Amino acid sequence: MQALVQTPSEKNIFESLLKEQNIFRDRNAITPHFTPKRLPFRDKQISELSFTLRNALQGKKADNIFVYGKVGTGKTCTVKFVMQQLEAFALQNNGRAETVYVNCRTYNSKYKVLQRVMQKFFAEESFVGFSSSFVFEKLLDYARKNKKHLLICLDEIDKVKDLDDLIYALTRANDELEKSSVSVVGISNNILFKDKLDTRTKSALCELEMVFPPYNAEELRQILSERISLAFQDNVVDQSAINLASAVAARESGDARTAVMLLLRAGEFAEKSKSSKITDSDIIKAKRKVEEELVFNLISTLPLQQQLVLFAISSLSVNGKGTRKITGSEENILFSGDVYGEYNRIASSLGETVVSARWYREYVSELETYGLIITTQSGKGIRGSTRLIKLACDPEKIFNTLKKEIMKSA
Ligand SMILES: Nc1ncnc2c1ncn2[C@@H]1O[C@H](COP(=O)(O)OP(=O)(O)OP(=O)(O)O)[C@@H](O)[C@H]1O
Ligand SMILES: [Mg+2]
Repeated sequence: MQALVQTPSEKNIFESLLKEQNIFRDRNAITPHFTPKRLPFRDKQISELSFTLRNALQGKKADNIFVYGKVGTGKTCTVKFVMQQLEAFALQNNGRAETVYVNCRTYNSKYKVLQRVMQKFFAEESFVGFSSSFVFEKLLDYARKNKKHLLICLDEIDKVKDLDDLIYALTRANDELEKSSVSVVGISNNILFKDKLDTRTKSALCELEMVFPPYNAEELRQILSERISLAFQDNVVDQSAINLASAVAARESGDARTAVMLLLRAGEFAEKSKSSKITDSDIIKAKRKVEEELVFNLISTLPLQQQLVLFAISSLSVNGKGTRKITGSEENILFSGDVYGEYNRIASSLGETVVSARWYREYVSELETYGLIITTQSGKGIRGSTRLIKLACDPEKIFNTLKKEIMKSA
């Protein structure tokens, strides 16, 4: 076989490809992981957070804070911004306050959170394999010896399995510390989560509560305009495309992540079709893709039991077994009791715990708050009165994704 060797006169295959990339200036700036230097419409939250956390800079324990808000309302980027500012200020001054950010989607147990915290404070050492209590004592020693006021941000805190234990340990730490302290900033987008906490954990965590409201279309338009000037070449994005993306994201949920993702995917579509402009039609194409990505991202991080309930719903919807046509409605709807039966069958066949009907109803409510399903109460006459369930997304896609996810964890 002849090797493909390029002679000097021939053009490299990447040359024209890279020249064509004239849409993006800095693609990274329009990804959801990017933390912009300016956060419009979050001044109030920034000043409230910094006002409470300033205690750590003044040698005092800062109150614990619980930050709640729907997806994409800027919780993560705002808290990260304030903590970065605080740490930078502390470094230039007495260095007594230190922060650590933990994403509990990845570090989802007390043990894993502590490991992550230690990685920040003891960059050179590994504590893997040591017991939680040993690691915890080391952390306290560190705070004590260095007279540090530690601020631990637990993002997506609802993902921590043994949260009561973790919060108890972190709060109790302060009883043993004199010239140092540990404070927690917890973040969640799950409104039902707080009510499930142990009363003691709840009052410890929520010394101060902050709510991040959704953005309206005009706010999203301004946020997007700032990001666009960083991410795209001049005059690439049509004004009407910006307006459309803001309106779509505002209507869906007031979510800046959706808005940013719409522009990112629309940019990729425009680039692929070698167009020099992002237009309304790119946004419309992007909308479908982004919706799918957000749903799949969400369901792949659900706890296993909720995945099993959703799997039961999608399985019945796909094979049409449990769906019924309700008089006066064209939609295929499931009865809650049928779903519970199917859930029982699936969980048992996988050797997983089968939760009680009470917990099952709880999971159904959670799936509804995530917008994955829609439920209504039937009128009298349909088996007395029962909860009717309908999938809010494409059953086949949900079914196939969950099948893979569940197999992974089984
Ligand atoms: N006020 C703002 N100005 C500029 N960009 C913002 C603003 N608020 C949010 N964003 C951007 O929107 C995206 C989502 O924000 P962020 O991750 O902070 O949301 P969140 O509230 O933590 O959402 P979730 O609950 O899903 O974790 C990020 O790209 C972020 O940079
Ligand atoms: Mg977040």
